[in-house]
Amino acid sequence: MSDQERRIATKTRSLRKYEGDPQAFVPVEGTPAIDLLSPFGPMIARTSVPQALTDALNHFADRMERPGEFLIPPNIMTAGGDASLRHLIEAAVSRYAEVLENKKPARIHIDVAWIICQPAATPSPAHFHSCDVSGILYLSLPPGIDDEEQTARTYISGRKAGYINFIHGDRQRFSRSLVSFKPSIGVLYLFPGWLLHVAEPFLGPGERRSLSFNAIVGE
Ligand SMILES: [Fe+2]
Repeated sequence: MSDQERRIATKTRSLRKYEGDPQAFVPVEGTPAIDLLSPFGPMIARTSVPQALTDALNHFADRMERPGEFLIPPNIMTAGGDASLRHLIEAAVSRYAEVLENKKPARIHIDVAWIICQPAATPSPAHFHSCDVSGILYLSLPPGIDDEEQTARTYISGRKAGYINFIHGDRQRFSRSLVSFKPSIGVLYLFPGWLLHVAEPFLGPGERRSLSFNAIVGE
């Protein structure tokens, strides 16, 4: 290992302690039980949607100009009745809000929903959304997302290439301020609209295709 590689490895190790672990609550076999409680801070929910829905959305997106970003029209939002994108998002957001506020919300309004098709080397800079609850659903992923070697090569202080990274709070001892989830097709993340998030560009062939939405939660 060269001096430079050693410096990078040391820096990476020292920064890792500020990263959240998506598996933090999974007990490690053979070790004494220890519960890590994290009662503060923004809550991120993870659920999934049926493959029929991601197939339909991909069919729609395939016909659009790529790379690019385009709004989802009302007929696509409501196609499928009870299994429609609109219905599934409203149900998931309602459940999320009910769990976190101990009260079923009076109404859920999806302000806007859109699909983003990104080729390699396209960054998605840190940003937040103007809404109560936002979400991201993965529709298609580049093959390199499963390439651990590429992921390790493009690792930047916890922000892995092509992953979704949420950032909250400052660098503080015994506190995590960044969590990085590996995207998976059909998986939907819900989070407060104000929560900063970012996706690092990936390398190689393929497309990173995701759906985002802004939802307003009525009390
Ligand atoms: Fe976003």
